[in-house]
Amino acid sequence: MSEGAVKKEEKPRKFQAIRGTRDLLPPETALWNRVEQTAHEVFGTFGFGEIRIPIFEPTELFARSIGEETDVVSKEMYTFVDRLEKLPDPPTLGDYGAFIEQAEKLMATEELPSVPGNRLAIERMKRIWDRGNVFGTEGESPIEKIDSAVLEELYKMVVLKDSMELGQSISLRPEATASVCRAYIEHNMQQLPQPVKLYYMGPMFRRERPQKGRYRQFYQIGAEVLGGSDAPAIDAEVIEMVMTFFDRLELQGVQLDINSIGCRECRPKYVELLRAELLKVKDKLGPDSQRRIETNPLRVLDSKLESEQGIIATLPRIADHLCEDCAAHYAAVKRQLEMRGVIYRENWRLVRGLDYYMRTTFEITAQGLGSQNAVCGGGRYDGLVELLGGPPTKGIGFAIGEDRLVLSLTHHKPVPQRRAIDVVLAWLSPAAYTKAVDIARNLRREGIYVELPAKLMRAGDAVRYADRIGAFFTLMIGEDELKSGELTLKHMLRQEQIKITETSLVDHIKKRRELKEAQ
Ligand code: HAM
Repeated sequence: MSEGAVKKEEKPRKFQAIRGTRDLLPPETALWNRVEQTAHEVFGTFGFGEIRIPIFEPTELFARSIGEETDVVSKEMYTFVDRLEKLPDPPTLGDYGAFIEQAEKLMATEELPSVPGNRLAIERMKRIWDRGNVFGTEGESPIEKIDSAVLEELYKMVVLKDSMELGQSISLRPEATASVCRAYIEHNMQQLPQPVKLYYMGPMFRRERPQKGRYRQFYQIGAEVLGGSDAPAIDAEVIEMVMTFFDRLELQGVQLDINSIGCRECRPKYVELLRAELLKVKDKLGPDSQRRIETNPLRVLDSKLESEQGIIATLPRIADHLCEDCAAHYAAVKRQLEMRGVIYRENWRLVRGLDYYMRTTFEITAQGLGSQNAVCGGGRYDGLVELLGGPPTKGIGFAIGEDRLVLSLTHHKPVPQRRAIDVVLAWLSPAAYTKAVDIARNLRREGIYVELPAKLMRAGDAVRYADRIGAFFTLMIGEDELKSGELTLKHMLRQEQIKITETSLVDHIKKRRELKEAQ
């Protein structure tokens, strides 16, 4: 068989986007841009500035903020060890000697975590290694030549190495509030005029079960207000801002739910009461809720299970168990919302799935999203900055699921078509090419959309091509045009062709385009 024939048989693998991730393509990306542009504009008018934060952070930052026991941290994060570059990865059997030596050096300088597990692993590896250099040197240890005793030793080495913490544990960000608080502390933003108002947009990562409106890489547009005050006016203004944004986008079927989940004083007492009540009806609950009675009774209120709805309706409500301060704060937030004309619904079952919340929580749903209909979630998180080693700070914010927002917007309005190309600029002879490049540059500078074919075309082909891509005009330059200094311009819809000078080209094209757009 010839080499060519072998190659033909081995079809290269076709790659697909990883489950839960997707490509966003034109023309839909134009709508994403419009959404993001509107966010920049609306948030700007409320005095917010944009922050851009890293895609990955120490795992510990998320674990401490969002909570070890939450679904996000315990099950859904993409976590990896950022292995030290200085540490050789033993690709061949003979490399373990170098690995042990280097690991010891790095632990001495604390570059490699000098934790008991790592020290023990190195000690054991050394013992195996010291029994004699059974593995040979690099390149001399093809696996089939090794006897089973050596394989066993090698296996132990691999297991020991894999048990080590070879560097810092890092996670792709599942959300951005923790990072914004980290940045607030890192850049001493408490010294700036307070409150500090920041917004962000970008991809987040959660290893959830993908379905409509739920992805493993999804996009959020969020905002946070950090500072010394927890005035209810701040809560109300943040909510007013997101409602204004949705209004500007003409999002349909918007429903705002609010709640207060109390503070460190009153919530634990309520949680105990709830737990006691739930224990009384434990047998009637499903396995998930039964488990949550122990781990996080508040999450039982989140349950969508039909059979549990009747029971949940009879449970004690947090609004009746708020301390005086929390009750007053909640009442003031509601008054403030009314003053701003923001329509809300109180939902005592709104508890949210992240640990850092206290007092005000809210969620917004919209039309056309099926079961994943929360398009925005947020709330107050006083004390989170302190928990991350910063000064006492109050905080409130929200994040919008941009994928869901776009999905809902396209549900009732088709995606706007991409703006068409104005001109296909065909060069009909090699000599005309330089002129064509020149004209294309001038037209584009004027904001005209130009398609300049990379190859020489015959007039007929150029017109057919312009027709196929829906261009308004075909502009043609060949030998005749170069000689006369007049270009040939064909109006595609009217099927009429004129001669035109370069100087009047821009005005002519713009005028025709405006006429078309006005139709
Ligand atoms: P969250 O409720 O976890 O809150 O997420 C906010 C929004 O992000 C959700 O309402 C939803 O629209 C969207 N979202 C979440 N997970 C996915 C997913 N897998 N696929 C598509 N969209 C999703 C937070 O993230 C908080 N950091 C919000 C916040 C900011 N609270 C205070 N400040």
